[in-house]
Amino acid sequence: MPLVNSKELFQKAYEGGYAIGAFNVNNMEIIQGITEAAKELNSPLILQVSKGARAYANHTYLVKLVEAALIETDLPIVLHLDHGDSFELCKSCIDGGFTSVMIDGSGLPYEENVALTKKVVEYAHSRENYVTVEGELGTLAGVEDEVSVDAEEASYTNPSQVQDFVTRTGVDSLAIAIGTSHGAFKFKPGQKPQLRFDILEEITKRLPGFPIVLHGASSVIPEYVAMINQYGGKMDDAIGIPEDMLREAARSAVCKINIDSDIRLALTGSIRKYMGEHPGEFDPRKYLTPAREAVKGMVAHKIKNVLGSEGKA
Ligand code: G3H
Ligand code: 13P
Ligand code: ZN
Repeated sequence: MPLVNSKELFQKAYEGGYAIGAFNVNNMEIIQGITEAAKELNSPLILQVSKGARAYANHTYLVKLVEAALIETDLPIVLHLDHGDSFELCKSCIDGGFTSVMIDGSGLPYEENVALTKKVVEYAHSRENYVTVEGELGTLAGVEDEVSVDAEEASYTNPSQVQDFVTRTGVDSLAIAIGTSHGAFKFKPGQKPQLRFDILEEITKRLPGFPIVLHGASSVIPEYVAMINQYGGKMDDAIGIPEDMLREAARSAVCKINIDSDIRLALTGSIRKYMGEHPGEFDPRKYLTPAREAVKGMVAHKIKNVLGSEGKA
């Protein structure tokens, strides 16, 4: 099966009360771990590439690895640009075979966000194979591409803007800020994790049937944080979004849930454990085999218990 855009996947997810996992990919082991889990559970997938991932692994390598995963799995897979920050970057990914892009103008003044997003949409939708576009309104706290946004500076999405934004830009999905946050330190120590479901409800009322995206949606799985801490790491205050909240979001208009930090934690926890137990080992295949298995297990858990996308491919 060739790569697909997100249009039909989101429509089915919306109607079926589940979400598609959008997992960040940076190398072969991560792609294999994610796609092997999805194949076993017959789940659709979004594999997303950030600007940093593209700089690290190279566009062609990532596209070819994802093409290999298509051959191996025969699943509906979207190849998506995560947090595109310019028209040129989005265009380069569209021209280079991506089936979906995000243009993140959320840090710009509203009218500039509208203008930039519209420009990307016009280009993406005019391709022979319609490329889907995700826009963003509202800003998340946390760290992405080495840019850190303080919780105080982050702002929730304003529901009164969403209709105007979607109509004028023509985006296919909208990322919103309701309290999720990028990275592994999403809440201050002692702070109670909270998502603003009231804002999500307001947005859904104004955009009936329209797919909503949640960034910063790792649950920062305690098992892997503990493993990292046990084997010489220091992530004591790491805290994520409770999985029951994410499951609730997946049942609603949220059709795409972004997960990167949980992949990093599974991989790193597993490698730390292996190296701690085998200090003389220096064959990367030895420690990357359990690390890939850890990613696979984590993704299977998300598909079954958070996203609800098992059997939906
Ligand atoms: O939201 C950002 C993703 O976690 C990607 O992170 O830009 O460090 O690759 P990155
Ligand atoms: P996490 O840091 O919570 O995994 O979020 C990832 C993300 O939003 C990628 O765009
Ligand atoms: Zn993000």
